[in-house]
Amino acid sequence: MKVKVVINGFGIIGKRVADAVKKQSDMELIGVVKAHQSYSANIANELGYPLYIASSTNKEDFLKAGSKIEGTLDDALQMADVVVDATPDKVGKANAEIYKKYKNLKAIWQGGEKADIAEVSFNAMANYEKALGKKYVRVVSCNTTALCRSIASIKEHYNIKEVNAVIVRRAADPSETTKGPINSLEPALHIPSHHGPDVRSVLPDVNIQTMAVKAPTTLMHIHSIIMKINENASAEEILKIFENAPRIRIFKENDKITGTAELIEYARDLGRARGDLMENAVWKEGLNVVDKTIYYYQAVHQESIVVPENIDAIHAMFEMFKDKNSSIKSTDNTLGISKN
Ligand SMILES: NC(=O)c1ccc[n+]([C@@H]2O[C@H](COP(=O)([O-])OP(=O)(O)OC[C@H]3O[C@@H](n4cnc5c(N)ncnc54)[C@H](OP(=O)(O)O)[C@@H]3O)[C@@H](O)[C@H]2O)c1
Repeated sequence: MKVKVVINGFGIIGKRVADAVKKQSDMELIGVVKAHQSYSANIANELGYPLYIASSTNKEDFLKAGSKIEGTLDDALQMADVVVDATPDKVGKANAEIYKKYKNLKAIWQGGEKADIAEVSFNAMANYEKALGKKYVRVVSCNTTALCRSIASIKEHYNIKEVNAVIVRRAADPSETTKGPINSLEPALHIPSHHGPDVRSVLPDVNIQTMAVKAPTTLMHIHSIIMKINENASAEEILKIFENAPRIRIFKENDKITGTAELIEYARDLGRARGDLMENAVWKEGLNVVDKTIYYYQAVHQESIVVPENIDAIHAMFEMFKDKNSSIKSTDNTLGISKN
């Protein structure tokens, strides 16, 4: 039996999760849901993804533009086992009331919603088992996902005393033409930034504080991380942990990848769809350990990093894999990001 999936919201995240669901032999994409007519409705048609609309009030706009519509959100939900909500921040909260009308329907929200929307805030490497059999799960944001991945992989080997991270955030996604700044760096004035508490929604026993600066770029975020551990460790040992961890890709000085622009070019050259880099990017030479303190940088492709986690969340909620390693292995193989 395939798990029947509806994607509500066909934007940056939704369209990528829809593609990922199509690649799973044990999942069926029932449809994607849009609220307003735009070119992506016709893209859904062209890709053969059944298209549903959030409300029938806009139906004429879609029909006038030549889009083929199968029905409304409610029609799609009636056929679904799980809905992946990828609507803009806060819209998912209103949608929760709709989803709850369907007794057997499970739901996944994204990191733009508050943690209390779901039973579990999820990251596959950090707390996969907590989502086993759950009905409502929230996949945490791009920054939180990257932090959880690298912190969880070190936490498997060392006792973490404290983590401090400074996040240089991309100001907007490439398609968001109305957002800024375009010539300024803007610090988040309330400290800690929301990322630290968000990591603790997944890893409650990690003492982490974060600060953030918004930068005029659209490609990726970069984190500077300072992690105190209780034991002695060498840079080589930490590097080995990252090399062996799934979804962390190591770049070396010889690669001549000096920043995020080349990382995206690298993903494009690999032939990744949309130039997506779903892994954390860590620079070998940017990693060091001094006096039981680990220093490293990681770059985060905000548009795609949470895609594998949405597939793992479905695995866990339907108990398709009982442990994180089997789930991650299966997801990564289907998405072409496996290290083996
Ligand atoms: N982009 C990122 O960097 C990123 C990274 C990680 C997590 N997230 C999180 O993922 C979620 C989605 O973000 P996103 O960046 O994918 O947003 P997005 O690109 O703006 O896409 C949202 C989609 O939802 C549609 N929509 C709007 N209102 C709707 C409604 N009432 N019902 C159904 N669809 C509706 C919008 O399209 P139409 O109005 O045209 O139909 C749009 O296609 C947010 O929680 C966000 O915080 C985003």
